Amino acid sequence: MPLDQAMATSESRSRDPITESERITRCWRHNHSFSLIILALLALLLIGDNMVDAAPFPPPDLTKCGMAYNSTEICCILPTSLSGKPIKKFEIQHAHLPLRFRRAAHLLDDAFIEKYQKAMELMRALPDNDGRSWNAQWRLHCAYCNNHLYYPDHEFPLEIHQSWLFLPWHRLFLFFHERILAKLIGDDNFALPFWNWDNQNNTEPFPNALPWAYYNNVSLSPTALNKTSSLWDPDRNPCSKPPRLVEFQTFIPCLPRPFPDLTRIQNAHMMWTQMVSAGATPLLMAGGEYRFGDFGGRGMGAVEGRPHSPMHAWTNVRDMGTFRAAASDPAFYGLHGNLDRLWELWKTLPGKYRGEVADPDYQNSEFTYYDEDGEQISATIKDFLDLKKIRVQYEEVSNAWVDKGTPQLNGDPAWLFCASDPSETGVARIIRKAPRFKAPMYVVKGPLTFKVKRRPNLNENHGEEMLELKVANFTWHKQHTINLFAYLPVAQYENTSIGCHEYLGTLQNFPHPGASPDMNYEMVYRVGIRRKLENMGRAHLKQLVITLVGQSYASPTSPGESGMNITSAKVIYSKL
Ligand code: C2O
Repeated sequence: MPLDQAMATSESRSRDPITESERITRCWRHNHSFSLIILALLALLLIGDNMVDAAPFPPPDLTKCGMAYNSTEICCILPTSLSGKPIKKFEIQHAHLPLRFRRAAHLLDDAFIEKYQKAMELMRALPDNDGRSWNAQWRLHCAYCNNHLYYPDHEFPLEIHQSWLFLPWHRLFLFFHERILAKLIGDDNFALPFWNWDNQNNTEPFPNALPWAYYNNVSLSPTALNKTSSLWDPDRNPCSKPPRLVEFQTFIPCLPRPFPDLTRIQNAHMMWTQMVSAGATPLLMAGGEYRFGDFGGRGMGAVEGRPHSPMHAWTNVRDMGTFRAAASDPAFYGLHGNLDRLWELWKTLPGKYRGEVADPDYQNSEFTYYDEDGEQISATIKDFLDLKKIRVQYEEVSNAWVDKGTPQLNGDPAWLFCASDPSETGVARIIRKAPRFKAPMYVVKGPLTFKVKRRPNLNENHGEEMLELKVANFTWHKQHTINLFAYLPVAQYENTSIGCHEYLGTLQNFPHPGASPDMNYEMVYRVGIRRKLENMGRAHLKQLVITLVGQSYASPTSPGESGMNITSAKVIYSKL
């Protein structure tokens, strides 16, 4: 019997001359059988899940690294010395770890730069078939994302981007890379520097320009580039040369940006939007759930899409702009050091649900790296979630944007609305005109505008408020970047700044070679919205007007544009 019918029946019965206890018994029996069914269903779901697909990733064997579907180049280096040797396990509880104090790259002194350069020279001098060598190191990153690592009897390769594996995999990669460098120079406390690109301080040396440490040799004037430094990469974009400022608006690196202070403001506002609002829960920050056996790339976390992806392209499109060669530029390690620092900072930002992803499939996933003797070593995510435990400490720097997105320039300008009439009446008009979401809606470049209902009276205890979009027939082998704006139907992809008050976040997909064009999955994208709406003074509105503006990049391996076919759009509340 359907529930409403059952309730009606029990109501009409209650008018019968029955005793109170009879009524309670009937009612109980009723509710009871209903909850039994629910319980049984839940149990089935749970058992089914555990038996079928719930599993953490076991550590891949790097000596089995190979190439499959659609790849053009083999990334794997197979150190000959390793064949047949078992993978060692990194046991955090037995490790006696020296403190690694990671310093901001723009503040390094000459002595440190010299030391880092020396370590890199030694690493570059090792033969390719040594797991500690520069070639083996950067190619390890390639192997983990260009469909080189398969598990026996599993259809899909391991992919460490675009999911909750992204932040921890890179943390562990830096950890083992750093230990090799430290051992090469015999300095147990050697620590990688981090490139403090989110810091918009406008006094020299600028933290958000590429630090000189990655360019010059010590004792040369900073303007005289010495391209023989071991931290130099000749493939860098010419326009990434300091003191030009990093910016995150596009993937086209050399557009003229004549107003540095506007760039600073835009960067600071974007950081606040992504870290405080869009990434307000562990999964929003970490990225999509991805379990052993799944096809990879089930959705980027808030900071992976932006600022992280544009940073790669801004610095060095030829190397860092590809999965293949991203880690072959030393600046990559500085870029990811900062991301790792920001992950830690993220936990301290406002919000009830900031913390680790608790899912055991995440916590128990393991990856394999090379240790300081060049041997395979595996490590588990859960051992690396506490920086104190792994004895990594980041130098204190200004996180000025945390304070409502201000870059702390002289006379910080407030957030600017980009709508021509952001008043109450202007917004009411935008709401009135926007069509309600009606599935399916298709977007390539947009703008695509629609409205969805909110429940402004629900508070944080119900979870963080987020927009959820479901995308069908997802084109995995294409790149999509979609910016989201609230109450800004005139938004455009290139010309509407991510520093606008109305910017809500970015959805992004990169193709990866394991994805065949005919794979057909549904994709679920989520982005936190409540804190941004509060910041805009619009948290009381019952209708959310969303505008999507996007770009799809064609490439030789995936020609033609494609968009997203949105089949559902709604506001949900979640603590995960
Ligand atoms: Cu493995 Cu910044 O990417």
